[in-house]
Amino acid sequence: MATNPPKLKVAVVDDERLQNLKNAFERQFGGSPLFYACAPGRVNLIGEHIDYCGFSVLPMAIEQNVFAAVSLNHSGTIQLANVNPLYNQITVSCSEEIVIDRANPKWYYYFLCGVKGIQEKFGITRLPGMSCVVDGNVPPSSGLSSSSALVCCAGLVTMEANQQSLSKVDLAEICAKCECYIGTEGGGMDQSISFLAEKGTAKLIEFEPLRPTDVRLPDGAMFVISNCCVEMNKAASSHFNIRVVECRIATKMLAQAKGLDQNGLLKLAQVPKEINASLEEMLALVDEVLHPEPYSQEEIFKVLGITSQQFSTELLTANTQHVTHFKLHQRAKHVYGEAARVLRFKSVCDCAPPDSIQLLGDLMNQSHVSCRDLYECSCPELDQLVDICLKSGAVGSRLTGAGWGGCAVSMVPSDKVPSFLQAVRKAYYLPDPRRAAMEKQSLFVSKPGGGAAIYLEK
Ligand code: GLA
Repeated sequence: MATNPPKLKVAVVDDERLQNLKNAFERQFGGSPLFYACAPGRVNLIGEHIDYCGFSVLPMAIEQNVFAAVSLNHSGTIQLANVNPLYNQITVSCSEEIVIDRANPKWYYYFLCGVKGIQEKFGITRLPGMSCVVDGNVPPSSGLSSSSALVCCAGLVTMEANQQSLSKVDLAEICAKCECYIGTEGGGMDQSISFLAEKGTAKLIEFEPLRPTDVRLPDGAMFVISNCCVEMNKAASSHFNIRVVECRIATKMLAQAKGLDQNGLLKLAQVPKEINASLEEMLALVDEVLHPEPYSQEEIFKVLGITSQQFSTELLTANTQHVTHFKLHQRAKHVYGEAARVLRFKSVCDCAPPDSIQLLGDLMNQSHVSCRDLYECSCPELDQLVDICLKSGAVGSRLTGAGWGGCAVSMVPSDKVPSFLQAVRKAYYLPDPRRAAMEKQSLFVSKPGGGAAIYLEK
């Protein structure tokens, strides 16, 4: 039976975390909050680094989220504090343009991205003064989308504070776009699942147009998240944008080889659409057209018939201008292969054959190998953790999120979860005091959580 999707506005439930946030707000600003907004982090089950190429991904929201308590003020400023003392308090004037310094990312820039996105959407010339206390419990720089949860929360806060109303799909699209102010050219996965998630189900997220479809995960298995404890801040390094750029160049090369009009072609998913090819055919085309040796800039200019000026303004990003060599074959192989694995994962979940868990585990394992060897977005600690997870009873295990650190997600038969947690703890966390100290928030079972919402006092 079809059920209605959850509402964006809900009444406050009796919740300890919310009560603590309310107390923190009152200590900070005197009065009571007018409303609360919350946006969850996510774990991507499969489909890594393909959303910005236009392909579907398969994440679920996690229980950890970013909560904000908000009231309007008459000071002509946005006053922003965080319950975590590591994050400083700031005040931003509502009469000046919001400036985000990409070269020097700070925690509150993510909040300001969300504010700016809504401001631009509605053409608000002067924002109302807002006082806001934020409480986030998504582990930072761990591939669980703590930063997008903050952007989404801020977008929701700004919409409500300006008495505007938007659909969840619109909010997801605005927040995906405005996160680019921080300089990372991500796809829309994180913001989409943060808004469109529903408790109890993972989602296949398709793009252009943005469309979520429920994916029923198999009974008899649980998803366990484990952090390798290597931090990766994608806004502070160029790894992420280099991959985005490599995929754009590969798109142009494949389009060129097929005699397509290059205008408007920047995403790998556009090529099979244009030439009506399957993903398997695209994998063969990549082998035919692209060589595994890295491409120099000169070779790219020559093949595409473009100038160095065009290359640097149309294909590179601000933080990839220094890159001289690009691995196009490996990146395109990963993207088309991973896109096919997402579709297979969804179809196994839909058909639920008796060996579902094994089939899904195999797909997750193939995804990790492809991320590690072709996309080169893992790191030695993550690879070690994935190996340990497999030896400890996981049927499938893979890095999740951007990579280069952060978390692995493992699928574990439900009856093996306690022994799995024990074994991973013993092999990965306990031998290292720093990891051991982080274990509690680094190794946990995760069930599909609900999406972003505004909470009003009863
Ligand atoms: C980050 C980006 C996402 C996605 C993942 C990798 O989380 O924000 O859009 O590209 O990396 O799958």
